[in-house]
Amino acid sequence: MAPIRVNRIAVNTGGGDAPGLNAVIRAVVRAAEPLGWEVFGIERGYDGVISGKGFRRLTRSTVRGILGMGGSILGTNNRGNPFQYPVTVRGKVVTKDVGDLVIRRLRHKGIDALVAIGGDGSLSIAAEIWKRGFPVVGVPKTIDNDLVGTVVTFGFDTAVSVATEALDRLHSTAASHERVMVVEVMGRYAGWIALHSGIAGGADVILLPEIPFSAASVCRAVQARYRSGRNFCIIVAAEGARPKGGSYFTQGPKEAGREHVRLGGVAEALAKLIQERTRRESRSLVLGHLLRGGSPTTFDRLLATRFGAAAVRFIREQRFGYVTALDPPNIVPFPIAEVVGKQKTVPVDGDVVQAARAMGICFGDE
Ligand code: F6P
Repeated sequence: MAPIRVNRIAVNTGGGDAPGLNAVIRAVVRAAEPLGWEVFGIERGYDGVISGKGFRRLTRSTVRGILGMGGSILGTNNRGNPFQYPVTVRGKVVTKDVGDLVIRRLRHKGIDALVAIGGDGSLSIAAEIWKRGFPVVGVPKTIDNDLVGTVVTFGFDTAVSVATEALDRLHSTAASHERVMVVEVMGRYAGWIALHSGIAGGADVILLPEIPFSAASVCRAVQARYRSGRNFCIIVAAEGARPKGGSYFTQGPKEAGREHVRLGGVAEALAKLIQERTRRESRSLVLGHLLRGGSPTTFDRLLATRFGAAAVRFIREQRFGYVTALDPPNIVPFPIAEVVGKQKTVPVDGDVVQAARAMGICFGDE
């Protein structure tokens, strides 16, 4: 491929938001401007390109003050995959491939390369755009930390910190009322948030999608804790945790145009069951989107800034079709095609799980 002359780039944010998105956008703009490039932000994932009305010029002054801001100043969308775009035809929702339209619109706007910030779904869109010949660099984002190629995604550290703080706060109320508290955290089919926050927040039981649990084992752990003289118990359950031989807890069927079914409900079901079987008063709490909102931690601001700067560097070096990946101490290019369709889950015999077990934490499998 002949070298591409770059004058103008675009940046977009897709999928669920994650703390640090704005820090990436800011870093892209600040790194690109000294090279003489213009930067355009695309609003609401790819919707802004499809409508043709969502291109926003970004400059150093328009991204001022957003480093520590949660959400995305561009908006984001987890329903607008241009390759399976939902359209209504004669009252019925069908999907249509508008990928070539997206590429035509980007070219028409004079965009030479796209920085696509997203998780698995958005990066698979970016991979297809690159496959169809449009220069792309991806930036991996998700609080779930379930993407391969990078040691960690930005957003994860913030989500774990928020969950840990919640667990700290729950200790005193659980102790005062002598209750079992079952706390559900996001993470989709990976248990990273549950595992890390559970250890840092001093949980007694951690339930992960990677280690199917038995209710009997969880109840035994609860009883053992009370018998040992402690009058409360904290359980962290990943939203993707499921019983041995059982299925995931979900919130209804998959909605049209969404990539995944909505998970949720494990904490409520478990609290009920624990109370029935152990006669200990139990309550459930879903932390949900709290983990995605608000200001990114120092770690996430730094990682997001490094990712944004590296994305611009990769474009300058004509390294298209890669994502920015943390491979300490550096940010390195990792092929986007090798990220999509894969999932980085918790290694069940890994060091972190071993450390948790050494602390006496139960995973519901004994
Ligand atoms: O992938 C990020 C995530 O927050 C998951 O942890 C969760 O299952 C999902 O998105 C929730 O998506 P939504 O905000 O669309 O309900």
